[in-house]
Amino acid sequence: MQPELRHFYHQSSGTLSYVVSDPQTATAAVIDPVLGFSVISGRTDTGPVDEIIAHIEKSGLTLEWILETHAHADHLSGAQVLKSTLGGKVAIGEGICKVQEHFASVFNLQAPFAADGHQFDHLFRDDESFALGSIECHVIATPGHTSDSVTYLIGKYAFVGDSLFMVDSGTARCDFPGGDATLLYRSIQKLFALPDDTILCMCHDYQPNGRELRYEVTVREQKHDNIHVGGGTSEDQFVEIRTTRDKTLSLPALILPAIQVNITAGHLPAAEDNQIAYIKIPLDTI
Ligand SMILES: [Fe+2]
Repeated sequence: MQPELRHFYHQSSGTLSYVVSDPQTATAAVIDPVLGFSVISGRTDTGPVDEIIAHIEKSGLTLEWILETHAHADHLSGAQVLKSTLGGKVAIGEGICKVQEHFASVFNLQAPFAADGHQFDHLFRDDESFALGSIECHVIATPGHTSDSVTYLIGKYAFVGDSLFMVDSGTARCDFPGGDATLLYRSIQKLFALPDDTILCMCHDYQPNGRELRYEVTVREQKHDNIHVGGGTSEDQFVEIRTTRDKTLSLPALILPAIQVNITAGHLPAAEDNQIAYIKIPLDTI
């Protein structure tokens, strides 16, 4: 039996979140939930995650897993809002420890912070299996965009994070700390080795040239048409395309707040003695 899938689109960050569920047991996983955030006012907005909560409640689903494909740099994770409302285990790839180690020094994070992934309920190893109700799911480590990137294979769906974009947008940048274009190429070959009919679910779509939102694409179509890596592009060609493009990109607007929150599994910083929580901005650092 195949899982049921529902997508949610966060327009301002171009992020796709998903609820994937096992129809036999009514258990669900959420992939990459978004917490809205205004960097101007410092206000968080639970709107995007509230929509997911309403869908899960209306559908009578039990939330078992909250799965991050990686520590996102463009939006804050809604994982803890979801968990505190509906329960579930927050999980990410074990490569998060490397990301935490790097950014712990950037943000001068002190104990009780530790770069050991303990902020998450589970860290997945490459090739690990887990259950979503009666469906056996599989984790494929797909580093390259970041060192913690993983793909979740759930039935016919593969949630690839930012390892691939839609065919007309290519791939995600590899110039963040821990990013590596060669590694991304090799990770994409792992995805291309999946059955051709596997449906790859994107984490982002920026609707280039005003086209309609697309978030599902087969392995077959990606192998053929992806503008960065399709049609038999070699590793050397890809690395050249990717590194040239990365030199032209500016940083995402929310990178500093997003990374601070996302490396701690979506926990917001603790409030200070005036009951207000703060996000840090390191000067002249990144
Ligand atoms: Fe990303």
